[in-house]
Amino acid sequence: MARIISGVQPTGTLNIGGYLGAFRHWPTYQDEHEAYFFVADLHALTVRQDPVVLAGRTRDVAASLLAIGIDPTRATVFLQSEVAAHTRLAWLLQCSASIGEMQRMTQFKDKSAGKDMVSLGLLTYPALMAADVLLYQADAVPVGDDQRQHLELTRDLAIRFNNRYGETFVVPEAQISPVAGRIMDLQDPTKKMSKSNDSPMGAIDLTDEPEVIRRKISRAVTDSEAEVAYDPARKPGVSNLLELLAAATGQNPSQLAGQYDRYGTLKSDTAEAISELLRPVRERYGELCKDPGQIDAALATGAQRAREIAEDTYRRAARAMGVSC
Ligand code: AMP
Ligand code: TRP
Repeated sequence: MARIISGVQPTGTLNIGGYLGAFRHWPTYQDEHEAYFFVADLHALTVRQDPVVLAGRTRDVAASLLAIGIDPTRATVFLQSEVAAHTRLAWLLQCSASIGEMQRMTQFKDKSAGKDMVSLGLLTYPALMAADVLLYQADAVPVGDDQRQHLELTRDLAIRFNNRYGETFVVPEAQISPVAGRIMDLQDPTKKMSKSNDSPMGAIDLTDEPEVIRRKISRAVTDSEAEVAYDPARKPGVSNLLELLAAATGQNPSQLAGQYDRYGTLKSDTAEAISELLRPVRERYGELCKDPGQIDAALATGAQRAREIAEDTYRRAARAMGVSC
């Protein structure tokens, strides 16, 4: 059975961008793949976090993964920080990665631009991400389009390691979701929809109530024309709404454009479709909040399963490099 792995950073509440771009497909892997999903809490430390807030979000993201339909009896769900092999392998990989390679990452350039203090972790982050993937000998990594470059680097590091030290890692493929690769912010449709705390009205959270979804979409920025057309460069706001509606209903955004002549109806249909799409997630999340023991149990079992395979790979890599493990 092919193995897949993916992770999500607990830097905010999960939103519809990440859901349509990535998480929505995660539960579909658990039947035909050996699937590993984790909360990348160590990655979140690359920018400064309030410890209490981070711990709360980590748990909340884990609950959201279960709420979207990941079943801990069919997939392994865990917290990155509970499997020590991630940071240990990251070190081994950093020692065969170059500074230039890390500095070329567009996410590093974006996140470090204009900052007074840029953590060293922000620069070396792709080595930790490579470790996350390579430890599990994953064949494929389902991610959004923005992670493509990090996956390419992961492959490069795996190939380099195998060449230098002998076959150790499976070289993984990125699996970029074709539809809704990039959902934009509702208030600024030229930038990616990111975690809701950065832009409360710009992002729709997975657990938002229907009236909140309606309010956010009705206030979404469009343009001063009146023509509904799918043209992301010229009409980013309207195109983003079409993209959302298309992803939620399994249709094509350009074709959908032809069915609307007013922004108002496009907005109300989009709000309705998103709200329906998220209904089961909202309901399951509500149940988990009432019985948090379920979350603890899933994470404990997940960490144990993850450790077994991760430690085995780590030992092989360490020995191959000539260090004790
Ligand atoms: P993040 O929430 O930034 O940790 O991202 C988790 C996953 O969701 C990654 O695979 C991202 O590429 C994907 N993702 C996040 N935001 C978006 C977005 N606005 N549109 C599409 N995919 C996204
Ligand atoms: N870097 C990813 C993001 O920001 C999250 C992530 C960390 C990840 N480690 C991973 C995704 C390993 C896939 C595989 O979205």
